[in-house]
Amino acid sequence: MTDTLETSAAPEGAAEAAAPAQGETRRLFIKTYGCQMNVYDSERMADVLRPLGYAMTDAPEAADFVILNTCHIRERAAEKVYSELGKIKQMREAKAARGEGGMTIAVAGCVAQAEGEEIMKRQPAVDLVVGPQAYHQLPELLTRTARARGERIGADFAPNEKFDALPVAREANGVTAFLTVQEGCDKFCTFCVVPYTRGAEWSRPVQAILDEARALVDRGVREITLLGQNVNAFDGEGSDGRPWSLARLAYALAEIQGLDRIRYTTSHPNDMSDDLIAAYADLDALMPYLHLPVQSGSDRILRLMNRKHGRQKYLDLIARIREARPDMAMAGDFIVGFPGETERDFEDTLDVVRQVNYAQAFSFAYSPRPGTPASTMAAHVDPAVAQDRLHRLQALLFEQQAGFNRAQVGRTLPVLFERKGRRDRQAVGRSPYLQGVHVDGADHLMGQIVPVTITDNTLTSLTGVVAD
Ligand code: SAH
Ligand code: SF4
Ligand code: F3S
Repeated sequence: MTDTLETSAAPEGAAEAAAPAQGETRRLFIKTYGCQMNVYDSERMADVLRPLGYAMTDAPEAADFVILNTCHIRERAAEKVYSELGKIKQMREAKAARGEGGMTIAVAGCVAQAEGEEIMKRQPAVDLVVGPQAYHQLPELLTRTARARGERIGADFAPNEKFDALPVAREANGVTAFLTVQEGCDKFCTFCVVPYTRGAEWSRPVQAILDEARALVDRGVREITLLGQNVNAFDGEGSDGRPWSLARLAYALAEIQGLDRIRYTTSHPNDMSDDLIAAYADLDALMPYLHLPVQSGSDRILRLMNRKHGRQKYLDLIARIREARPDMAMAGDFIVGFPGETERDFEDTLDVVRQVNYAQAFSFAYSPRPGTPASTMAAHVDPAVAQDRLHRLQALLFEQQAGFNRAQVGRTLPVLFERKGRRDRQAVGRSPYLQGVHVDGADHLMGQIVPVTITDNTLTSLTGVVAD
């Protein structure tokens, strides 16, 4: 995109907002789409921009810098970005017309990586396109944007540079936090864009993770969710110079005083190693909720998806996990309407769901993605058939989720209170199984782990009273 540098006539209100003068406060608005990895990245972008005088705002119309941190996983997710950009462009024009200065617009995340230059063609108001491994370059880019528009950076994957450059000191706004430990994916499931948008599997060194975790705990965090596109494939370099497994990392994290809860997401069944399963029997801090997507229950479809395991292996794995941790709440992801999926294949998926009994699940109609092998496979499933299967699958999954939540009524569960509820003096926390738990008159217990007797449930959450 060098052809647009220097010579482009910036639209009214564009890049002059980019570089704030020393000591001046600028307003930063970030909208996050997609997975938790993007949530983490958005927080880190805010961290990296704070020293430049940028403070977060939740009002995009008054922002000096707007970042859309985007997701490319399904067509609808990617298209949303363009309609949002249209709105942001209008806000920029209105802001300039009010005489309130300019607004820099950046697209970050997986759409930025996948569609790069295309974005600026479709929406010329965009000043910057930043790939997921280049956020640490934002400050430098902003100074440059004052002169040059239309840059695309970060097309190469170099996650090590990103993490080395990001500040260890993080803002922690609550008692729970995300911590990215692994990026990228080498699995190449035939439907999925992630290997192309996030690059190859790469794990952060153990020491950097432990330092970041300690910094979070020092700021009051009590629960950390370790993130990675394939988090259980973690093999970061340990203090002994050798690769550590996710299990070994979990044991080290569990030693940190004040870190009471450890979660991780998302896992691939083939990377669910014996030591990780064994850790569930050993570590109280490792929460009994596991997101282990299977996508389909049909061996034939699993093969076409290149998932590299069959249905029985998945079911056996869950049996072993439940042996180590009998109360394990299972979560999963499903795709219906994958090319060639027959009613029989779909029945196999329903059968796996019945056998596993999920506490929570995410299910999607297959969306063909550019550049993926599945998008050129023949035998596309009629969208109406896919929608019908999705509704039937979701009916079963919702029934299981409601059943799981109902089964908690009468039990007393440790709840970590993390935010205020809608009602006066109400506090909302999480059970070990990740359900939201609403408790009246508990707002003085924020940040604490308290036994709560569950009195009622909805499809997605629980209500309770503080136990005696
Ligand atoms: N790394 C994780 C999940 C990544 S994407 C894993 O392997 O499980 C999150 C979910 O989006 C996937 O589990 C899958 O269910 C869904 N998904 C990915 N690509 C999709 C596509 N092309 N169409 C529909 N759903 C998709
Ligand atoms: Fe995508 Fe498969 Fe990798 Fe998950 S394991 S991110 S579904 S390619
Ligand atoms: Fe979406 Fe990228 Fe995450 S495509 S799901 S934001 S890794």
